[in-house]
Amino acid sequence: MQYPPHGANFQSLYERFQIPMPEMVYDLSENVNAFGFPPMIKEQWFQLLNKISVYPHPEAEPLRSLLAKKLNVQRETLLLGNGAAELLTFFAGRFSNRKVIIVHPTFSEYKMTLEAQGAELIELVVQEIETYRLPIVQIKEHMEEAACLYLCNPNNPTGSLIPKESIEELLICGEETGCEILVDEAFMDWTEESESVIPLIGRYPNLTVLRSMTKMYGIAGIRLGYLVGRKELVEELESRLPHWHVNALAIEIGKMCLEDENFRRESIAKHASIKRNLEHFLRKHQCKTTNSVTNFLCFQLTDPEETRDFYFYCLRNGIVLRHTENFIGMDGKWLRIGVKREEAMKKFQQVMDEWYGK
Ligand SMILES: Cc1ncc(COP(=O)(O)O)c(C=O)c1O
Repeated sequence: MQYPPHGANFQSLYERFQIPMPEMVYDLSENVNAFGFPPMIKEQWFQLLNKISVYPHPEAEPLRSLLAKKLNVQRETLLLGNGAAELLTFFAGRFSNRKVIIVHPTFSEYKMTLEAQGAELIELVVQEIETYRLPIVQIKEHMEEAACLYLCNPNNPTGSLIPKESIEELLICGEETGCEILVDEAFMDWTEESESVIPLIGRYPNLTVLRSMTKMYGIAGIRLGYLVGRKELVEELESRLPHWHVNALAIEIGKMCLEDENFRRESIAKHASIKRNLEHFLRKHQCKTTNSVTNFLCFQLTDPEETRDFYFYCLRNGIVLRHTENFIGMDGKWLRIGVKREEAMKKFQQVMDEWYGK
């Protein structure tokens, strides 16, 4: 059976598995903010139309300078992208015929983009899924031969946080062995940011940090991401990216998102409270859960062999979860669930209660 590589687009999932789609479907397979986007975007929508017929600024200004100021980094060390996904593709382009370490289970695009560019992968697996504790000794050994190490922090699909000091330890090791580190912080804005390594950029030339704005700000369809790294790397990537790759709407909308810190704060608080209830519910059913700091988490049924049956039971009942068939180390024995509005979470709980015959 061919499972899709990502969450979202649930209509095609029902088609693929030839399951009749219920009238009401709740998509818990993706990780975008359940409360949409900052209200200012809707309020200013008609003014935004003026931007459509004009080419965007080729260096994504004024957003680039505003963001650099907010992050307290030099403008030359910052590069915006048409979603973090675009930057991942171009970043991977630097590693053809070179070795790159990835630590599973993690975001599937690393493997896909690196393999597409002809990189040779060193694939390690964490010892414990719940905490996503890194196999530091093993990683360090392989850093001797690798050009780069990819880390996802907080990790997708588990939502767990890697402590900053572990990353710094690896950065020091990488400096000695000539290994770069890419830290994908696509979900870091769901936290207090204390574990972000953006403040370490000036200190470690082998560090690049990737960020997405699509999840927190609910703008997955607009596409906006960025990376922070050494100036030479930014110049190199910029020379290969298409001109005008960040569209004019994304630049304007990005500015609005940055201005609305309140939206971020409220989103974190609302999701945290719903997530607490969800974790409580899952534990009541004796499920294992990952220690997530983000707006999604993974859980495992008491009998992991029943995971596929439960996944399809949920689909038939209008609940779309994210399977883990293509997450190495989870091998389909876990399910990822996005934290969504109360109505969706209630429906999920009802379906799970029914599954357990309650
Ligand atoms: C860990 C991680 N990094 C990067 C991305 C890509 O984000 P964007 O929507 O900005 O392309 C995703 C999207 O799911 C993700 O989960």
